[in-house]
Amino acid sequence: MVMIGATSRATEGFAPELFAVALYKGESPRDLGDDAAGVVSGGDFGGKAGETALLYTRRGPAPRLLLVGLGERDLVSLEKVRRAAATAARRARTLKLREAALSLPILPDTAAREVARAAAEGAKLGLYRFDRHKSAANNHEVETFWLVCEDALEEAGEGAGMGEKVAAGSTLARDLANEPSNVATPEYLAQRARGISEKYGMQLQVLDRAGIDEEGLTGLATVGRSASNEPRFIVLEHRKGGESAPVVLVGKAVTFDSGGISIKPSSGMEDMKFDMSGGAAVLGAMEAVGAMDLPLNVVALVPATENLPGGDAFKPGDVLKMHSGKTVEIVTTDAEGRLILADALSYARRYGPSAVVDCATLTGACVVALGSHASGLMGNDEDLIAEVQTAGEATGERAWPLPLFDEYTEQIGGDTADIKNSGGRGGGALTAGAFLKEFADYPWAHLDIAGTAYGKKGSAYTTKGATGVPTRLLVEFLIGRTR
Ligand code: BES
Ligand code: MN
Ligand code: ZN
Repeated sequence: MVMIGATSRATEGFAPELFAVALYKGESPRDLGDDAAGVVSGGDFGGKAGETALLYTRRGPAPRLLLVGLGERDLVSLEKVRRAAATAARRARTLKLREAALSLPILPDTAAREVARAAAEGAKLGLYRFDRHKSAANNHEVETFWLVCEDALEEAGEGAGMGEKVAAGSTLARDLANEPSNVATPEYLAQRARGISEKYGMQLQVLDRAGIDEEGLTGLATVGRSASNEPRFIVLEHRKGGESAPVVLVGKAVTFDSGGISIKPSSGMEDMKFDMSGGAAVLGAMEAVGAMDLPLNVVALVPATENLPGGDAFKPGDVLKMHSGKTVEIVTTDAEGRLILADALSYARRYGPSAVVDCATLTGACVVALGSHASGLMGNDEDLIAEVQTAGEATGERAWPLPLFDEYTEQIGGDTADIKNSGGRGGGALTAGAFLKEFADYPWAHLDIAGTAYGKKGSAYTTKGATGVPTRLLVEFLIGRTR
């Protein structure tokens, strides 16, 4: 695991094997002064975002100078910093180096703390890989990644520490989501939640099948009925906010979604191990909340279950009386996520929450609408929606508002029960949101992460598979609530 620290060039013994500098478009390495001592030119390097050039020098701070493009100065952002840091860290790994450094860029109107935090996140997440099931792992690891800065060194150090904690939360979310469903069972998630609770002194309650029945969590009990890996309802509480009303985070954790009796086509079904990414992100956020010891009350609710066909599986046409008392008619057993979330949302009422944010790989329709470039964002409170959107923008885990018009609620009106669990194809992400809205009677926002929680190809700081989205968004949202 890489260690990230802040240092100045003058620190004794500072001799990284690679020194990376981020350059704006049009900037020349000669603008770098001593950092590029002995460099004749950057060659064909143009400074486009993501562009790199590796130079070997005789006199600079390190034998290797890596130029990393930041793009247009006017368009720079913390996201560009994350990517540049990830690019540098990955190059150091490819070169099998142990120690690398990045000169922290200066961003207009941005504190060094924030730049350092973004760089630390980028470097740590960029170096992430999931190889624990490979016998011959490609096991070279970069041990230390320095963020180099001359003024505001203390601030940069704090930012780096914060970035490491946030990235560790996101890493946990990725690890949990990448695990196959024969490893990441509901009980496994409960055990990982136990680990977090013990590490940070949080309160943990785990309901097993009997406890779920007793609590009247019908949606979760019903979806989990035919699975031999029993369902769990995980309640993890961080109580550091005195008497203030808590924020409740809810994450869908269907550890494998076969669709149940309304079974999915087999092609691509392996990706349904990622259907617990919402729960993974909520646990990842709690890991970061604990590490940062945020002065807040935060409650995590993770309904965890498999969705499988079986002799006692629930069936289309069944009617459920939910935890809230509302009745739901099952149109398709593949719309299972909203059933377990609905119970968690009505369970959340007892906390008198100041806000509830749920995240779930909920609908294929959301993937059609927004692709992998933004999570769908819905809710019943404009201010909360704006707050969540801002947190997404700040972290590069973008979320985009979608409407919950009354007509979407009408679309899920029930024939034999109060509501039905599918409104058909049209507006699939919105009718799912409208369904959840029926169970939320406090400020509430919903993130549909079906397109963003995992991907077929990586990017500067994500790999193929789980992305950890929206862990960093949730943490940023919570940090915002401490101010
Ligand atoms: N887990 C899926 C949603 C999903 C689809 C996530 C694709 C990631 C990629 C969810 O449980 C589901 O099956 N949703 C159905 C709902 C429909 C039957 C009303 C869907 O989106 O097709
Ligand atoms: Mn489903
Ligand atoms: Zn699902």
